[in-house]
Amino acid sequence: MSKTFEEALHYRRAIRSYDPEKPIDSAIVKKCIEQSTLAPSSSNMQLYEFHHIISKETNKKLAEYCFDQGAAKTAQEMVVFVVRKDLWKRRVQSNLQFVKNIFGEKPMTEYSKREKFAINYYQKLIPLTYFDFLGILGYVKYAIYWMIGLFRPIYREARSKDIRVVAHKSTALAAQTFMLGMAVEGYDTCPMEGIDSLRIKKLLNLPSGAEINMVISCGIRKPEGVTGPRFRIPFDEVYKQW
Ligand SMILES: Cc1cc2nc3c(=O)[nH]c(=O)nc-3n(C[C@H](O)[C@H](O)[C@H](O)COP(=O)(O)O)c2cc1C
Repeated sequence: MSKTFEEALHYRRAIRSYDPEKPIDSAIVKKCIEQSTLAPSSSNMQLYEFHHIISKETNKKLAEYCFDQGAAKTAQEMVVFVVRKDLWKRRVQSNLQFVKNIFGEKPMTEYSKREKFAINYYQKLIPLTYFDFLGILGYVKYAIYWMIGLFRPIYREARSKDIRVVAHKSTALAAQTFMLGMAVEGYDTCPMEGIDSLRIKKLLNLPSGAEINMVISCGIRKPEGVTGPRFRIPFDEVYKQW
């Protein structure tokens, strides 16, 4: 029986040891990966890819690149959440096509104000934000925005390193959605960033512009896979009400 949101939240733990006697269904893992794409992403750019590792051989190699930590070594399958900031132009085109399909193909002058805004958003604003040249242009934009920002609120994420954070945030939201989806199915996961990201990129034949967000191992927990009670900072230390 599937779990409620609250039950899934409490069920999900970072599992460090999976039961080798309890296989998981790759189709269910794939379904949870697909559900993860329903997570919000910045400007709906969806600058991610999900590499679902089901081959035993590749999992073994991947576990080695996760330093053979228990969560990786005992996993049945793994999913590598990859940031593809380098695909921004392609994502702009997909978004543009999507909005134009909805609004209909017509001359720009015939679109409503709201429609024009959506088209200009992907045609002008996103390229202005994402386009950079050797990382230099980003700093120029950052300085200009900083000066304008002296007089009014302004978006400041202009440098390449800022855009990286933007893309990683959205990919991490997909990763969390995936883990909760898996918990609903009674499947276990462990997010890992204790990894050799360069070797993993090579293993998956990823281009230089791709970045590993995290690797998530999957399986069914052994009781000792939960290494201890949950620790969270007292809520009133992290909760600020204004
Ligand atoms: C981005 C990220 C990276 C993590 N990397 C690792 C890791 O490499 N190895 C590991 O055993 N756990 C890793 N964790 C799991 C955390 O240690 C775990 O989520 C935390 O201790 C809280 O425990 P809980 O998830 O069971 O509530 C990672 C978690 C996150 C969010």
